[in-house]
Amino acid sequence: MKILYVTSEAVPFCKTGGLADVAGSLPPALAEQGAEVAVVLPLYERVRDRFGSQLKFECYDYVDLAWRHNYCGLFSMEKDGVTWYFLDNEQYFSRGTLYGQADDGERFAFFSRAVVRMLDRFKFWPEVVHCNDWQSALVPIYLKDDGVREDRYRSIKTVVTIHNIEYQGRYNPYVLGELFGLDAGWAKDGTMLLDGDANLLKGAILCADAVNAVSPTYANELKMPYFAHRMEGVMRQCSDKLYGVLNGIDMKLYDPRTDERILQGFSAEDMAGKDACKAELQRMVGLREEPHTPIVAMVSRLVSHKGLDLICEVLHDMMELPMQLVVLGTGDQRYEDFFGWAAQQYPGRMSVRMDYNEDLSMAIYAGADLFLMPSKSEPCGLSQMIAMRYGTVPIVRETGGLKDTVQPCESWRDAGNGFSFANYSSGDMLHVIREAVYLYKDYPDVFGRLRQRAMSGDFSWARSAREYLRIYATITGQTWPIHADTRRAAETPKEEPPAEEAAPAVEAAPVEEAAPAVEPTPAEETAPAEETVPAEETAPAVEPAPAAEPVSAEETAPAEETAPAAEPVSAEETAPAEEKAAKKTRKTASKTTSKASKAEKKTEKKTTAKKGTADKKKSAE
Ligand code: GLC
Repeated sequence: MKILYVTSEAVPFCKTGGLADVAGSLPPALAEQGAEVAVVLPLYERVRDRFGSQLKFECYDYVDLAWRHNYCGLFSMEKDGVTWYFLDNEQYFSRGTLYGQADDGERFAFFSRAVVRMLDRFKFWPEVVHCNDWQSALVPIYLKDDGVREDRYRSIKTVVTIHNIEYQGRYNPYVLGELFGLDAGWAKDGTMLLDGDANLLKGAILCADAVNAVSPTYANELKMPYFAHRMEGVMRQCSDKLYGVLNGIDMKLYDPRTDERILQGFSAEDMAGKDACKAELQRMVGLREEPHTPIVAMVSRLVSHKGLDLICEVLHDMMELPMQLVVLGTGDQRYEDFFGWAAQQYPGRMSVRMDYNEDLSMAIYAGADLFLMPSKSEPCGLSQMIAMRYGTVPIVRETGGLKDTVQPCESWRDAGNGFSFANYSSGDMLHVIREAVYLYKDYPDVFGRLRQRAMSGDFSWARSAREYLRIYATITGQTWPIHADTRRAAETPKEEPPAEEAAPAVEAAPVEEAAPAVEPTPAEETAPAEETVPAEETAPAVEPAPAAEPVSAEETAPAEETAPAAEPVSAEETAPAEEKAAKKTRKTASKTTSKASKAEKKTEKKTTAKKGTADKKKSAE
């Protein structure tokens, strides 16, 4: 399978957000599964400065965009089994920042047009072109446009991944011809028109062969007005080609046993290093060195959709709890002002760093106890997965990927890997924070086991890469062997597997096996089985192309909670659902706390010795 991955940023070359992490990890993971992969990016100034000497000049050409006729250089680099291509045009890309320029529309139209123009120059003619967000949304459109005249463009299938639907690339429709070199018909027939604007992402969604959102829950949420930023109709329209593949994290880069960025390594079996990291973090950020006070942490852009208003509402109530708070991030002035002021009120107990600082963020992941992400919406979210890997237990709102990666703690039966609340309400958030803090303080054994479950989750890219390959196989009509050993088996001609065997791994997986990352939770409450099952355990030798099924509400989420996603939702319809969810959170929360004490009583007998030590520590504080 030959895949060209088009992105406007990728680690380690250039990064402004989560897209860069995905684009840096997914292509190598696809290559590891046996796909031929090339990635194409703009050659920004910062890439040239840092990687220029490692780049190989391939060739140059001229790209026609409307009346413009511009130079485009092609550079390349081999890394991690992938060819990374960089498109050069200094006028467009030699700028201090990646985005936020007045001519962004023209810059990324040039980039997209140049990708299509340079197809002949890449190491292969792709079977699939995979684009990301609005910056490369014009690629499927240009392929269709050129496909009318040239057959070979029609053979290419396209995928577009939506990392955050808030950013759509909206322009005055009159610039379609002038800026993008497209016929006005693209807007007139509605393909690229939304609310009177030319909309690049809408065009890509309608033209692509498959559309992917970065988590199953986000894929369903995108059909609701609350999350879709006016695109709910378009998303519902394309639900038969809509998928939700959960992102992964780089499990080697984020490994607490070997990570050299943190003070001392540790693992679920030996947590001594984590205690050292906690003490170090307290020293670094000026918190009191109290080993038995839980540190609640946030590493986040300080912007509204991260749920910061909830924290502003109840910060003082939070600080009444026996906890410390550390916040790292930059963003909107009003939040920076608020957190800066609040930190002064709680010296030694609350610390805020308005910074984007990789080293400090690692010290926080490693040293904190709880990780707070009360996001209003979160397409996938990577920080909660990184935090879990380092034994920092997440407290999240049940939205997007947060809902798919964090299963709420049920202490009475040792299940779950974090804490969560459903309603966007500061009261509900405070309730869950209180529950987490007291579980840490009063039931250290139960908290320890919760932490271990969080640390043992499988958030590897291999799992996501297999899901993507299944999508590529579906749209190209190919049969795709799933992993290396079975791939070898598939190379020797053999008979088609019988019908049941040919069923997708995910379908065949029994529910208990579907969530190895966390403790078994009842089917209704677990994240969708298809996203969590490791294919190694269940995949047949050869994965049949039609295996990948687009996301449907029934398949991917508990019926009661996502029912509105399946059908067009109106505001009146969603309100009762939210109330219901709020009640459910309250119910679960109180159930969890009371059951926690029961469970603890049960385990108490067995662990008297250990508990004795913990109690001693507590009274020593
Ligand atoms: C965007 C989303 C984030 C997601 C990331 C990678 O930044 O806001 O939730 O994890 O893209 O897909």
